[in-house]
Amino acid sequence: MRELKILAVVVFFTLVTYWGVEPFAHSQMHKHVEGQEFIYNGTADIKGAEAALEKAKAEGTDTAAAQAKVEAKKAFWADVEKIAQLQGNAANGEAAFATCLGCHNGAGVNMGGVIPPNLDHAGSLYDKNYLIALIKDPAMASNVDHKYEDTMTHPMGSIKGMITDDQQIADIVAYMQEKMAGEVTTKEAFDEACARCHAMRYAKTTQLGDTPEFKHEKDALAHEIKVLEEQELVKTYMGKLPPDLSIMIRARSEHFMETFVENPQTQLAGTSMPRVGLNKEGYEKVKTYLEEVGDPSKPAREAIGPWVILFFVVFTVLAYLWKKSQWRDLH
Ligand code: HEC
Ligand code: HEC
Repeated sequence: MRELKILAVVVFFTLVTYWGVEPFAHSQMHKHVEGQEFIYNGTADIKGAEAALEKAKAEGTDTAAAQAKVEAKKAFWADVEKIAQLQGNAANGEAAFATCLGCHNGAGVNMGGVIPPNLDHAGSLYDKNYLIALIKDPAMASNVDHKYEDTMTHPMGSIKGMITDDQQIADIVAYMQEKMAGEVTTKEAFDEACARCHAMRYAKTTQLGDTPEFKHEKDALAHEIKVLEEQELVKTYMGKLPPDLSIMIRARSEHFMETFVENPQTQLAGTSMPRVGLNKEGYEKVKTYLEEVGDPSKPAREAIGPWVILFFVVFTVLAYLWKKSQWRDLH
């Protein structure tokens, strides 16, 4: 009887901890961030600006600037919505797209902090509204406008002066969705969306792309120096060197990864990582690549699971039959 009471007390406190204390502590330490279903309409950005305004009011600091920010964000995303309604003409977009190739030309030259990414699959990796926003104002689109006095000085900011017509933006995006699309491998998705900032040691890739095999030690070292120089530029641009992502997928939960890539500011307020603007399929591709590199034994582990279960089933049946045969003679 006494044992039962002790057991009841232990069970009671275990359950209280499990359902009450732990989730509470967790919610205090890691606030829950709602996913945005990969919809880029500025809701979170406007909310963020409004929260900053409330904070400024409470602290009695400059509310005019914070107020202006809220208005600017609202106006920007309303414009994006308006352009999204336009019918884009891909043929007209092709000519205007030449403007983009001035920087996105595969020459591997660092521009203002990073090497402009290859856009070969940009039409299928990125969300349509995000691409519209990006061409209108890259800093606003990627939610790092707080870093710039004038968003024109963002490394891609000069596009604001080059493409000013709404219809032209719609045309370029239509062109990208038609021609810069198609099958994307998981590696291509990572290379185009993340690799200008993040290295992957396990995949032998750096901000300069895949590391070639060198015959001579001297050439390998020369390449290493180039990588360090590139990383120095990225570091100056971002304020810190973006971490190697080789095993990040094992260190962070799936929910964190997804919401972080959707909008880094919601998970790490003030972080310098820009929003990337991937759509759901694009994100899944990148995630799969991170798994392939960071947890290569996962498919093997999953494949062996059913065999282990089958083994136990067969073993149980055999054990049962054996037991029956043993007892038969005793009755
Ligand atoms: C002045 C050079 C320049 C021009 C012109 C330019 N870009 Fe970029 N673009 C960049 C740079 C630099 C980056 C990387 C910025 C960063 O990572 O912060 C970039 C990033 C991008 C990205 C990835 C965005 C993301 O959030 O991950 C896309 C997509 C893109 N550009 C599309 C375009 C399109 C479409 C055009 C033409 C309408 C264009 N760019 C014109 C320099 C340029
Ligand atoms: C323009 C540069 C840039 C691009 C592009 C970029 N990142 Fe980052 N990323 C950063 C920086 C800078 C940090 C460090 C952030 C910090 O600590 O504030 C970071 C941090 C991270 C982290 C770690 C967050 C943590 O919990 O510490 C993850 C995960 C991540 N990035 C994933 C990605 C993925 C996936 C992509 C591509 C879809 C990507 N990043 C594209 C700059 C970038």
